[in-house]
Amino acid sequence: MKINRRAFFQKGAVLGAGLALGSSGLLAERKDSSLQSDEHDIFEVIKNRRSVRKFKSTPIPKEHLTKILEAANSAPTPSNRQAWKFFVIQERKTLDQIKEACIKRSGERSRQYFTDYLSAPVYVVVLANTKTRNPVNDITAGALAAENLMLAARALGYGTVFCANSIREEVTKEVLNIPDDYKRICITPIGVPVEWPKTPEKKSLEDVVLYERF
Ligand SMILES: Cc1cc2nc3c(=O)[nH]c(=O)nc-3n(C[C@H](O)[C@H](O)[C@H](O)COP(=O)(O)O)c2cc1C
Repeated sequence: MKINRRAFFQKGAVLGAGLALGSSGLLAERKDSSLQSDEHDIFEVIKNRRSVRKFKSTPIPKEHLTKILEAANSAPTPSNRQAWKFFVIQERKTLDQIKEACIKRSGERSRQYFTDYLSAPVYVVVLANTKTRNPVNDITAGALAAENLMLAARALGYGTVFCANSIREEVTKEVLNIPDDYKRICITPIGVPVEWPKTPEKKSLEDVVLYERF
């Protein structure tokens, strides 16, 4: 997938104020929202997950974080290997180091973009061990774990973003001292969005579904 980095920098990728949840974000606090009928309706959660790139500093309770990580750790995995690690970063100092390293690579004009991007209270780096007997499958499983994580976070009212490029793998590996055996699948913030972005236009099923023949 091609990412238009300049568009991200300019727009901050906050596309509007299409609120799917109340602006408080947290399900526990939410009084009126589109998820009211059943807070944990999986279809609503899937539909309302959005990539979020600017966050409030609202802390995430430990029990929420644990629930989110348990969801990640429940994803399908080849031979039940679970060759993944979920590297949780909450220390501001470390996040600032990542931010400054990103700005150094991309230039001062990217400062606001990375300040927003690194504004969440929690970041999780999803890693897959590539020294296994089927690293491709273990990398795939890492992506599934990341999706579980993002959906669980959404169910609890938090925004995330599957970041594979904006924050470069080398930057996280260097700052976080991640061993070479591990491939970074993504880094994702977890936090209460400043606002929920509108749903970007999606292709229709007619465009993407094939029945029986290509
Ligand atoms: C493999 C992959 C890589 C991505 N890399 C980035 C990234 O580097 N930076 C970013 O901000 N978003 C990244 N995204 C998020 C997409 O931009 C986002 O999913 C897409 O624009 C659709 O928006 P939605 O998630 O709100 O539906 C990535 C998503 C995927 C699946």
